[in-house]
Amino acid sequence: MKISVLTLFPEFINKIRDFSIVGRAIGEGKLDLETVDIRDFAINKYLQVDDYPYGGGPGMLMQIKPIVEAIESVKKNNSKVYYMSPQGEVLNQDKLKELRSEEHIILLSGHYEGIDNRVVENYVDEEISIGDYVLTGGELASMVIIDGVSRLLDGVLASDESFKEESHYNGLLEYPQYTRPKEFRGFEVPDILLSGDHEKIRKYRLRESIKNTLQKRPDLLENKILNDEEKDILKD
Ligand code: ADE
Repeated sequence: MKISVLTLFPEFINKIRDFSIVGRAIGEGKLDLETVDIRDFAINKYLQVDDYPYGGGPGMLMQIKPIVEAIESVKKNNSKVYYMSPQGEVLNQDKLKELRSEEHIILLSGHYEGIDNRVVENYVDEEISIGDYVLTGGELASMVIIDGVSRLLDGVLASDESFKEESHYNGLLEYPQYTRPKEFRGFEVPDILLSGDHEKIRKYRLRESIKNTLQKRPDLLENKILNDEEKDILKD
């Protein structure tokens, strides 16, 4: 899969190449990450990419010409263009899965007070927000997508199990996990996890998963279709 990030700060985005799972996905050729410096398409020799808003108002806007030419420099028939913006649909795990199955995504990271809206109206497929707050630019949002999508690519994580069981995989938060030692300063690991009874452990984990979700994110349960076993646990 290919991800192209259009940004005024390519060196910031490129830092992600050096780390952990994203770095490995790129190193193994599973992710092709490209950055495009929007300033390469500036309107003049002063490398200007922004201007005052028509109608007045605070701040500067990124201009249409550099952005559209940056998009056109990488866009193919199979590309989808996403604008990182607090006005977009809020990102979640389902959206990451959808993005993972695209061949080429172009992530437009804006700056200043925003971008000329003709870009959004005519050149953007979708806007994506990473939460209901405002950042100084879209770079961190693009990096969130790069990270979240990379770990979903085939063969990037050691085992499919790691995301079958994790929070948000099946609409529930993950169950609590423990590792050695069995006891630390009187704090003990739940006995059942040491029992070796796999079916009991599975049931315990599902119960804990539901409990966790009820306590921390009850809103997730509103949209979830529960199976019979999950319904029985919720009734208790
Ligand atoms: N740019 C500024 N704020 C943002 C947000 N919350 N999500 C995505 N892009 C942004």
